[in-house]
Amino acid sequence: MAMKRDLLSVTDLAVGEVQEIFRLAKTLKGRRGPEAPQPLLGQTIALLFQHPSLRTKASFDVAVHELGAHPLYMGNDEVKMGTRESPADVARVLSRYVQGVVARLRSHAELQAFADAATVPVVNALTDGEHPCQALADLLTLDEHSGGLAGRHLVYIGDADNNVATSLLLLAPRLGVQVTIVCPAAYAPSGEVLAHAKRLGGAPVVVEHDPQRVNLAGADAIYTDVWVSMGQDAETAARKAALMPYQVNAALLQRAPERCIVLHCLPAKRGQEITDAVLDGPQSAVFDQAENRLHVQKALLQWLLAGR
Ligand code: CP
Ligand code: NVA
Repeated sequence: MAMKRDLLSVTDLAVGEVQEIFRLAKTLKGRRGPEAPQPLLGQTIALLFQHPSLRTKASFDVAVHELGAHPLYMGNDEVKMGTRESPADVARVLSRYVQGVVARLRSHAELQAFADAATVPVVNALTDGEHPCQALADLLTLDEHSGGLAGRHLVYIGDADNNVATSLLLLAPRLGVQVTIVCPAAYAPSGEVLAHAKRLGGAPVVVEHDPQRVNLAGADAIYTDVWVSMGQDAETAARKAALMPYQVNAALLQRAPERCIVLHCLPAKRGQEITDAVLDGPQSAVFDQAENRLHVQKALLQWLLAGR
């Protein structure tokens, strides 16, 4: 029997596999509606969420439905994983009912324990460690807007020690995208993540700390995310104070070329990490990016569950 495949980290996918998923996502994007094939007909996919979600929940629900399968959503109030029963037991039980699990868990270590016990594929829908489906949608969006990824330059500004930044750092360079991180020293990617990105190879990663001096003349995308991720509420004041100079606003964007798109995984805290003028401006690709969550996740689920 073939080994089940999980997507817990972007590093679970080889470059060729990501490219295959992108090709499939582009095909599926142009082939929606009642005539579209339903390769997962008769399957059930559990959607298990410990945190709130708009995009991830809605896009996976629609993706599963459009592929012909049944999405079984369960919020944490009913499952109470970790208090009512262990992640491993939840995984063992769900594996007897469904063909795959999409899980948004608070802790990456818990997701790992869950996936180790599951006998069906598990997809990470965000943990404190990574947000791999987001990174896939982000790079698909850059690919579409820039006509390819090789040689592109992505500048990530803000909290660079979070799930979104980590997944980007572990994926973008391998696809030929040069990454510049602009962040305060206290919110820089960990040495472990930078070393991992380096081991994986690909385009260079540069970390800078001065948002006024960073050269944006060659930027193809400027990316930011919230300064306070889910579960970090107690750190709000300190984070806002340290990260305010890293706001993506009109003055910053003016230093980038006109072709440069603006990306944000959303939800955004308007007026904090990004201003209305930028988020709603002509260079913003954030709603294409949100839409691409659907197409890339459909491709991922089909690739994982309908045979490769
Ligand atoms: N970008 C993202 O994952 O959004 P949600 O938290 O709303 O799912
Ligand atoms: N870094 C954010 C991403 C939300 C989609 C968080 O974890 O809250």
